[in-house]
Amino acid sequence: MKPYEFRKHAHELVDWMADYMENVENYPVKSLIQPGEIFDKIPDQPPSHPESFSALMKDFKEIIIPGITHWQNPNFFAYFPANTSPPSVLAEMLISALGTQCMIWETSPAAAELEEKMMIWLRDMIKLPGNFEGVIQDSASTATLAAILTAREKKTGFSVNLNGADQAGTLRVYCSEQTHSSVEKAVKISGIGKKNLVKIAVREDFSMDPEMLRNKILSDKEAGLVPCCVVATIGTTGTTAIDPLRAIGEVCHENDIFLHIDAAMAGTALILPEFQWMLDGREYIDSFVFNPHKWMFTNFDCTAYFVKDAGALIKTFEILPEYLKTRTRGKVNDYRDWGVPLGRRFRALKLWSVIRTYGTEGLREKVRYHIQIASDLKKMISEESDFEILAPVVISVVCFRYRPHGYSEDQINALNEKLNHQLNDTGKLYLSHTVLNGRYTLRMVTAQTNVTLQHVERAWNLIRTMARKLKA
Ligand SMILES: Cc1ncc(COP(=O)(O)O)c(C=O)c1O
Repeated sequence: MKPYEFRKHAHELVDWMADYMENVENYPVKSLIQPGEIFDKIPDQPPSHPESFSALMKDFKEIIIPGITHWQNPNFFAYFPANTSPPSVLAEMLISALGTQCMIWETSPAAAELEEKMMIWLRDMIKLPGNFEGVIQDSASTATLAAILTAREKKTGFSVNLNGADQAGTLRVYCSEQTHSSVEKAVKISGIGKKNLVKIAVREDFSMDPEMLRNKILSDKEAGLVPCCVVATIGTTGTTAIDPLRAIGEVCHENDIFLHIDAAMAGTALILPEFQWMLDGREYIDSFVFNPHKWMFTNFDCTAYFVKDAGALIKTFEILPEYLKTRTRGKVNDYRDWGVPLGRRFRALKLWSVIRTYGTEGLREKVRYHIQIASDLKKMISEESDFEILAPVVISVVCFRYRPHGYSEDQINALNEKLNHQLNDTGKLYLSHTVLNGRYTLRMVTAQTNVTLQHVERAWNLIRTMARKLKA
């Protein structure tokens, strides 16, 4: 494709993208495609001769789009959002045009230095301590893996890196029963082993019980095991419960345990002064992750990972093959040593574009609005006697269920599951679920970039109406 052809197609593409953004609300939120349908429409063999870009776009619209779940539709209330925004998309276009590979400072000094500065902006926006340094990772799962590997190395004097995982088998990692599954994945990969992941019971509000944590750590020590890392969550996936950071931090401090905070979704709320309470006890944190690719309007992927001791992180990951030796080593940040991948995308450009376009006040305004409409939704649900709220509404997640009178718990679970599927099959909204204390729970997240109170009200009306038509 020649540059003049690229220019032509790119203009067409931008028109398509702008139309998509304007009309995304008219697409069915959740793809209604059956398994294998898309696969069967794609030829088994690649074309042997060049095809036109127009042919590709035709198939994109006819074959691919029907199989897309529209995460940017403001009626998307499922999981946690993967928000994007126009400034983020524009930056992503520049990133792919530059096609830089940002593994070390020398392979694109601007990428490394912009990343360093963006991490300072973000650190200060969410008010982590000033001695924290940050790096962009692809996902919170990767950052949590980095945290657990660093904790393992610190605890074993960097010997597992050298000698293999024998010593890792006595290490213990702690998290709550509500913690994201990425912690279990990291513990498996690290050689510490799933059997050494201790899930601490939660309190009524689904946050970790710090006394149970303390007791478990003490009994593990008595049994000759080695407590290594605690992962506390600010905003659990199920209900956005906030683990009590100060109390957990004190336990970690008393027992010389690495404290990692997973704030994948709720971290963005820390830009609001009224949510700074979630970080009370920040002085105990060793590492912290949150995802601008969830709630901060920066398209996937973009994870901000902050550490108190960058030296320990780098010592855990550093490699120095001959071809990567540079004259600037030690004077600059070579981010290849701050995580798993060698090759890295220029993600900082997206953050720069988003933060400058919205401004910190603009970001605060949007996030605050999302939190407000969650609280409005909670009020609407609470006013109906055949519905109930099942968890505290802390930020932008509302957990609830339909509970008509005269039905058993099993029947109510079955009703809510059916309701969830029926609602999603309308294509008018998308909800996901969790199970809380044995109850099938509908989750509605009011944090999509362009969601408004009107979308929430419309969704709630549909939920109410469909629920009342259901029979067990
Ligand atoms: C609390 C929490 N941590 C971690 C993750 C994993 O995020 P990622 O997809 O960036 O690995 C999620 C995903 O929703 C999450 O809710």
